[in-house]
Amino acid sequence: MDHPSDRPRRLRTTPAMRRLVAQHRVHPAQLVLPMFVADGIDAPRPISSMPGVVNHTVDSLRAAADEAVAAGVGGLMLFGVPRPEDKDATGSCGARPDGILNRALTALREDLGDSTVLMADTCLDEFTDHGHCGVLDSAGRVDNDATVEHYRALAVSQARAGAHVVAPSGMMDGQVAAIREALDAEGFAEVSILAYTAKYASAFYGPFREAVGSSLQGDRRTYQQDPANRGEAVRELLADLDEGADMVMVKPAMSYLDIVRDVAEVSDRPVAAYQISGEYSMICAAAERGWIDREAALDEAVLSIVRAGASIVFTYAAVEMAGRLRATTL
Ligand code: PBG
Repeated sequence: MDHPSDRPRRLRTTPAMRRLVAQHRVHPAQLVLPMFVADGIDAPRPISSMPGVVNHTVDSLRAAADEAVAAGVGGLMLFGVPRPEDKDATGSCGARPDGILNRALTALREDLGDSTVLMADTCLDEFTDHGHCGVLDSAGRVDNDATVEHYRALAVSQARAGAHVVAPSGMMDGQVAAIREALDAEGFAEVSILAYTAKYASAFYGPFREAVGSSLQGDRRTYQQDPANRGEAVRELLADLDEGADMVMVKPAMSYLDIVRDVAEVSDRPVAAYQISGEYSMICAAAERGWIDREAALDEAVLSIVRAGASIVFTYAAVEMAGRLRATTL
């Protein structure tokens, strides 16, 4: 019988050997926890399609943010959920200093100072009554340039409230340059921009839309990217880098690992990827049925995103994962 001359299994013989030769590992500091804070509720409200995730009150958000920072996560990404009656066609409650997201940013910055990186979703969809990420023209189409003007004001209000990072997620052309200019003009040269660079029109956002009480009619296909397209992601990346993005993001992550790789190969700035609501909830749902192991599947999914080239991963499981990592590897 012929013996193989090459035996890759040698490096898999023991846990210690596997640990030694592991090429990629995840560190809590590279995980960002997305959090939802809602106006007009007096107790945290579970999001039924996202097990373990809640709409926070400002008070419960403060406690959960403390816990996340203590667990060692690298940053927090905040989404605001206004009262339904405060939504309007231009999402005007988003940029108000007393709007829910800005109130939450102010509270967390006061509590946490610079001990973590506070990020804000810079988008209108949570705040508009039609649920689109921008304002509409008279024909009902999302008006790019008018929307970007709203993003400037929103980003400045978030910087003023205490965000270290603003994160435009609306996929409007020119949004990064416009926000950079507005921040600089208002004295916020140190506030970073995390650009949602390649954001695809995905079916996996479903649970998020429940989380923010989205009133979206129709879809986002005139601004988010077509899942059929790969080259377009690099085009968006070059534009965002040129416009002054400090970090870039690919979203969703799991069905777009090729895009994460493409972007990581070209970007000279940190690359993030977002394990979105549907990715997270699918794993939870399958685990609840006993079909897969929740912890192992979440850890493998995040590791795959890092292996693809992301150095920052947004995940709803950031806190539990940070706990596991500390217990097993740190
Ligand atoms: C838009 C925004 C969305 C998500 C983050 N920012 C929703 C969308 O584009 O419809 C989705 C996040 C997730 O699904 O976890 N402000």
